[in-house]
Amino acid sequence: MLTQAENELMCRVGPGTGMGATMRRYWLPALASSELPEPGGDPVHVELLGEHFVAFRDAEGKVGLLDETCCHRGASLLLGRVEGCGIRCIYHGWKFAVDGKVLDTPNVADEKFKDRIRARAYPVREAGGLVWTYLGPADLQPPLPEWPWMTVEPSHRINAMAMVTCNYVQMMEGLVDSSHLSVLHITPLSQAGKSELDFARKTEQMAFDAAPRIEAELTDFGFHYVALRDIASAEGRRIEARVAAFIPPCFIANPNGDLFFAVVPVNDVTTRFYHVWWNPERNIGEEPLRSEQLKFVGLDDDALARHGMTPATADTALRPSRENRWHQNRQLVRTGHFTGIHSFTQEDVAVTVSGGAIRDRSKEMLSVADLAIGRLYRVLLNTVKRVANGDPPTAVDANTRAIRGVSAVLSPGVHWRTLVPGHLVHRGADATESVP
Ligand code: FES
Ligand SMILES: [Fe+2]
Repeated sequence: MLTQAENELMCRVGPGTGMGATMRRYWLPALASSELPEPGGDPVHVELLGEHFVAFRDAEGKVGLLDETCCHRGASLLLGRVEGCGIRCIYHGWKFAVDGKVLDTPNVADEKFKDRIRARAYPVREAGGLVWTYLGPADLQPPLPEWPWMTVEPSHRINAMAMVTCNYVQMMEGLVDSSHLSVLHITPLSQAGKSELDFARKTEQMAFDAAPRIEAELTDFGFHYVALRDIASAEGRRIEARVAAFIPPCFIANPNGDLFFAVVPVNDVTTRFYHVWWNPERNIGEEPLRSEQLKFVGLDDDALARHGMTPATADTALRPSRENRWHQNRQLVRTGHFTGIHSFTQEDVAVTVSGGAIRDRSKEMLSVADLAIGRLYRVLLNTVKRVANGDPPTAVDANTRAIRGVSAVLSPGVHWRTLVPGHLVHRGADATESVP
């Protein structure tokens, strides 16, 4: 439970807010590389942390991210023309390079004028199928994190993104909440046994123990937590451990071990929910594996569009809302489907959005099953506090290569923490909470 003031501090990300200042100290995905498919293609609108930008790919394939409004007299550069190595504003023809250098000012006779001015441009890196940017002060720019999936070939990686019309913290809560899996997702999980997909096999066991024991620990990077479930195996009763890691400000390594989430605030009430699967051995990024995976979780283009979860549909009546009952089909519920909702992603989004655009956390009743949710609030609010105090943001220079999500059946006497040897656990007072 949080006070209303704490909730506001944690959720609001616009310029001038505490979390806004904090988020701006990290590299964040601004959009997917696939949204700028070709050099010289049309510029696209990007909203990130409540600010508006234009992104374009120049003739050499370099991506630029500039303030949307032209630095001359404010026309939208979304109307602009991508010409060679820059974008030209159609109002008076000023042209800007990806780094903000002014290349041309045709309505000004003085040739030197353009050398004295500069458009506001933001650093951009492309890695792992995402276009990353940093919106904070230049002198505090950290190195770009190196996640393991950033270095695999595109054919070994699947990128997907769902637009979700609620605050980013709500989406993250669902990702550190193992106990909802065997309830909310019971119908698609019960079908998992019939599927050959890695994802299906890794989640199969969760259908059988609805009340996992949860332990959560603060770590050097944020926190990790484990869900421990009893399972029956050939060797008798065993415990399956599923360990997830949360890395501020909005990153989660899923226990499946091959799935990473970035939950990026577009603004206070809209979120880009990025998924990355990777597999160094298998060409999961190629057909038919790619489409099979995306369809299984409801992230294929068709399902996303029908449920108002793409950039083009999230602003329309298709977005999940009370009016369309968050796309729940009551006829399906009557005939045996637990939720009556399309698949994993749509089930998550329905319950998350139905709580309101920014959920009121002053009225919630957290239980032992919600240990990791409390951790999430605490790590986020601590990070804001650190930045406000002038300290470096939590995990901004974390050793990301050592952070992992993992699941495994534990041999007798083996502690789950041995599954994550690279995570440094904080031993301070109140750093560990466990529920027997
Ligand atoms: S407003 Fe863009 S060139 Fe004048
Ligand atoms: Fe879920």
